[in-house]
Amino acid sequence: MSRFLDESLQSIVPYTPGEQPQDMQYIKLNTNESPYAPSQKVLDALNCDEVQKLRLYSDPTTKVLDQAIANYYNVKTNNVISGNGSDEILAFIFKAFCGKKGMAFPDVTYGFYPVFCQLFGIKYNTVPLDQNFCIDVNDYKDINDNVIIANPNAQTGICLDLDQIEQLVCQNKDRVVVIDEAYVDFGAQTAVPLTKKYNNLVVVQTMSKSRQLAGARVGFAVACEQLINDLKTVKFSFNPYNVNRLSIIAGAEAIKDYDYFEDCCLKIQDSRKYLVNCLEHLGFEVLPSKANFVLARHEKMSGEQVYSQLKQKGILVRHLKDQRIKNFVRITVGTNEQIKTLAYTLAGILAGANV
Ligand SMILES: Cc1ncc(COP(=O)(O)O)c(C=O)c1O
Repeated sequence: MSRFLDESLQSIVPYTPGEQPQDMQYIKLNTNESPYAPSQKVLDALNCDEVQKLRLYSDPTTKVLDQAIANYYNVKTNNVISGNGSDEILAFIFKAFCGKKGMAFPDVTYGFYPVFCQLFGIKYNTVPLDQNFCIDVNDYKDINDNVIIANPNAQTGICLDLDQIEQLVCQNKDRVVVIDEAYVDFGAQTAVPLTKKYNNLVVVQTMSKSRQLAGARVGFAVACEQLINDLKTVKFSFNPYNVNRLSIIAGAEAIKDYDYFEDCCLKIQDSRKYLVNCLEHLGFEVLPSKANFVLARHEKMSGEQVYSQLKQKGILVRHLKDQRIKNFVRITVGTNEQIKTLAYTLAGILAGANV
């Protein structure tokens, strides 16, 4: 730390992203990316002509992308804002709505939420999940702070249904409820239709998981026009050209290619079943996930041991150090081939541990 770092940042604990080894030597099941390539339509659209145009700034209104998202969700373009990954959209939300009001979220969830709060000087409040790692929406009814819920929840994969989300939104119309749907396409229900009914709801999504574009960094939010305008105020006060030219095209093409999207999502849901079966067969306890990952633990080995022994054998999974889940590992749903190798490797590790 230099002596120039602002006092407000001196104790910040930045977000730790999952490992991104550049050598492609690992079976990579640690950051919930898709095991499949982007849609062929995305690849075709990213042609030389578009690369030539990189000398020009991107469209600050991200019109082509916002229109494609709006068509997909049957909302107006004015109900959409796009960002450089959903992390950027989340940052806009924390900045826009949480100056005076704090933010509340579950004690086990996406690790970036408390980091945004520290960065922007926002007070926050964590609400414990129950003993089965589920969210009880009644726990939020007396909270005046804004609320952010990842649905399915990050780290656990457990989801709320739409009635529970609506309950959360209706409990207190004087707070903003943010539903972070990074993993919604793998089996949960989107709350986007509720944004037409409630003006205190923002739904955030990403193209990093179900649309194979993690490296392009495309995320978006859907909400009533006033809330979207508030987010645009932050965007245009920070980085007007926030989505680059190629990512605008890639995102628009990805959301238009419904057949490919659906095919990939169904394959991942099938593979998730296969992964859960393999893990349970090996004696793991697996939380009921509707996401493209599962959280699993084994009574004979710590999460840290499972993670490091798999890494030694060329398989990367995620070990999160949060107190309540430190005995677990989080495993991204890969292809069946990758899962087969994982299961075989885990069987060897467990045999070696004399389990
Ligand atoms: C719950 C949740 N929200 C948001 C994100 C950020 O996604 P991105 O910035 O890639 O769109 C992630 C990434 O893993 C996540 O797990």
